[in-house]
Amino acid sequence: MSVTRFDTVILGAGAAGMMCAIQAGARGGRVLIIDHAKAPGEKIRISGGGRCNFTNIGASARNFLSNNPHFAKSALSRYTQHDFVALVERHGIAYHEKTLGQLFCDDSAKAIIAMLLNEMARAACELRVGTTLENLERIDHGFAVTLGGDGAGSIRCRQLVVATGGKSIPKMGASSLGYQIAERFGLTVTETRPALVPLTFGEDVLAGFREIAGVAADVRVSCGKTAFDEALLFTHRGLSGPAILQISSYWREKEPIRIAFLPGHDFFADLHTARRENGRRNIANTLGEILPKRLATYLADAHGWSGPIGDASDKKLAAIAATLHGWEVLPIGSEGYRTAEVTLGGVDTSGLNSRTMEARAVDGLYFIGEVVDVTGWLGGYNFQWAWSSGWAAGTAI
Ligand code: FDA
Repeated sequence: MSVTRFDTVILGAGAAGMMCAIQAGARGGRVLIIDHAKAPGEKIRISGGGRCNFTNIGASARNFLSNNPHFAKSALSRYTQHDFVALVERHGIAYHEKTLGQLFCDDSAKAIIAMLLNEMARAACELRVGTTLENLERIDHGFAVTLGGDGAGSIRCRQLVVATGGKSIPKMGASSLGYQIAERFGLTVTETRPALVPLTFGEDVLAGFREIAGVAADVRVSCGKTAFDEALLFTHRGLSGPAILQISSYWREKEPIRIAFLPGHDFFADLHTARRENGRRNIANTLGEILPKRLATYLADAHGWSGPIGDASDKKLAAIAATLHGWEVLPIGSEGYRTAEVTLGGVDTSGLNSRTMEARAVDGLYFIGEVVDVTGWLGGYNFQWAWSSGWAAGTAI
């Protein structure tokens, strides 16, 4: 088989890989990007409910989890959310801020994929989908790569960029290839676990949650010292909604999470007033004026808050208010990679150069995007990391 030479081969045509290809190609390098999926950017396509929350206006290193919280700073500060927004605007893609700085396409996430493909074509990058990595060897001044599938061939390249993403949603093509390549070349991979994922509960708790499945409430959910103010959703499988997805990245087995309903609300004052003005109402109905009715009934039943509110002492009202400000529940697990938006952990950043994403010990080998141990909060941060790290590698090559 004849051998084709490229300057750079990128494994994974997702957000990070495509951004890297654009930058490396624009600098004149001959770039090949491959993906085993039938189409590039599949996660972009399904992201943000089909509208892609492509960045967050407030993105900074504090919105990311990593063993080294400083690692992401360099890339994030050199290719910022504003740079990506400028690219989106240059392509005439209409967008809006939904909430908390989250930017979404007005129409479809497909516009972001089309934009990246357009830029890749301008930079003369070659894309091979339906293509697998069959073999990878280190050779003098680069790598020998054997590809199978639709884009089969024998390749030599000077730089190899691993942009194969995390483990979430295996049915969409997520694989562990990136972690395997890292370990094979002597890099450490930190513990990986599903993140931005709904939490599950034992049958004793779940039976109650099922009764109120579909009920949502504004909460402050906390675990240890970390807290998020967002919406929580009761489901047939446990707890979901943005607040729970956020805290799932910080939660560990056997730890409870604390839920404060309507953060900042003075429940004691409300209950006190209700007792004075309408003492014959029962406690559940009184709470049902403040919280969703089904939730109020569930909480009252679960905690034995029965009888007219007029009969409740100050001490009892204070105890009810305290529970509503800090209800502790104990998850038993998460829904796992089947529904997790991202993978926490990954290629240990201590083995990578934060400016270029190149492996410190292996010249020409780069890791970008979600495969790296940098995990963003919910809200466009993970794509921003993909753009920033892809840009950092692409401009360094
Ligand atoms: P990404 O997963 O995008 O790309 C990796 C590519 O590598 C894939 O195309 C895959 O097919 C390919 N690949 C994997 N293994 C391979 C192998 N063995 N051989 C060849 N190719 C291989 N983030 C955000 O900021 N805003 C949002 O709105 C959302 N929404 C969202 C919804 C859902 C349902 C999910 C699952 C995730 C999100 N995310 C998100 C997270 C975001 O999608 C994710 O962090 C980025 O896509 C990561 O970009 P990467 O390029 O690193 O990986």
